[in-house]
Amino acid sequence: MESPDFNQIIDRHNTGSVKWDFLDRYLHINKTELLPMWVSDFDFQCPKEVLQALASRIDHGIFGYSERDEHYYQAVIDWFSRRHQLTLHKEWFTSIEGVVPGLALLIQLLSKPGEGVIVQGPYYSSFAKIITMNGRTVIENPLLEGAEGYKIDYRHLEHILEQHRPPVLLLCNPHNPTGRCWDRDELLQLLMLCKRYGTTIISDEIWADLILPSGKFTSILHLGSEWHSHVIAATSASKTFGLSSLRISNFLIPAPALRQAFTDRLNAHGLDVFNSLSMTAATAAYQYGETWLDKLQNYLAENRRWFEQALTSSVPWCRMTKAEGTYLAWLDCRDLGLDDNTLQQVLLQKAKIAVSMGYSFGDSGKGFIRINLGCPRQYLEKAISGLAQLTP
Ligand SMILES: Cc1ncc(COP(=O)(O)O)c(C=O)c1O
Repeated sequence: MESPDFNQIIDRHNTGSVKWDFLDRYLHINKTELLPMWVSDFDFQCPKEVLQALASRIDHGIFGYSERDEHYYQAVIDWFSRRHQLTLHKEWFTSIEGVVPGLALLIQLLSKPGEGVIVQGPYYSSFAKIITMNGRTVIENPLLEGAEGYKIDYRHLEHILEQHRPPVLLLCNPHNPTGRCWDRDELLQLLMLCKRYGTTIISDEIWADLILPSGKFTSILHLGSEWHSHVIAATSASKTFGLSSLRISNFLIPAPALRQAFTDRLNAHGLDVFNSLSMTAATAAYQYGETWLDKLQNYLAENRRWFEQALTSSVPWCRMTKAEGTYLAWLDCRDLGLDDNTLQQVLLQKAKIAVSMGYSFGDSGKGFIRINLGCPRQYLEKAISGLAQLTP
């Protein structure tokens, strides 16, 4: 199989891409002149093996009701065993078309209207959306900012666990937007605290495979069976292989009663039929995508190294947060001395880049922006030239 060329520019316009085609709808600005670096999907083709598997499934031509087959389960189980030394059991799996919909249904299942769900701020904005739109409240436990990256504030966490007794803590690991990978000790402390207060941890591990050389992914499920009664891990091939619009994710729930309750909830919504193309794509990706992913990870690590160096020399007011995973850069723009609205305007109008504004990640994101580095290097060069137009 030929080597992937991540430098190749592929026009994504007119593909229904949220990132490229719907800028005007979301940002109310003329889309043609902006470089989109906001939505977190990358601008690379998925592995050729996945394209071939999809092509032959499409050639078959019959798309009746379909289920997850043994190949699918085995491909995911083998992947986690090989890549993460994590043993998954087939009976733990529940699947749903996307991590966010699964999280929303779990929040409905595990909490009552009016109750709080803890998130570590800055937090992925869809977390706040599904919590508040389901009539629950966001309880932010702001991460502590430090030179070595962000850390969990356990003291504040215990305070809010004690005060609010929230049924759910929604963890993001690796963390969007900061790129932290929580290590075993950090997870253990979280587990101990949450167990003490009867809080279930839902660990969104959608970024698990996109790890930088400095990072290591530890799943909440790595910590052992003594914690299994109150943990759930969500995974997907979507971020790893660029399959987000195909919609398939797994919620791994070791506790039988919890799993049954979630399965019942899915059945109650008729969510027990699966898209055959997503299944084909995810199976092929997990079976054959390993070499491609190694190359992608190298490219992304090099993109990050290049971008950080370019920032240091051309955009000295901007500080890049130390990350261990994801292809997201969390940039501190506070030295520019602008409020968030003005910052957004100058980014759009002067720098000509569409970024994710930090304030959409909660109060602790104010003054920051998130940039997607999952793109050909040429786009990063353009972004740096744009950012270099701005001065304090
Ligand atoms: C932490 C996190 N969870 C979930 C998602 C989206 O998941 P899905 O597309 O499967 O609903 C994203 C996408 O950016 C994400 O960053």
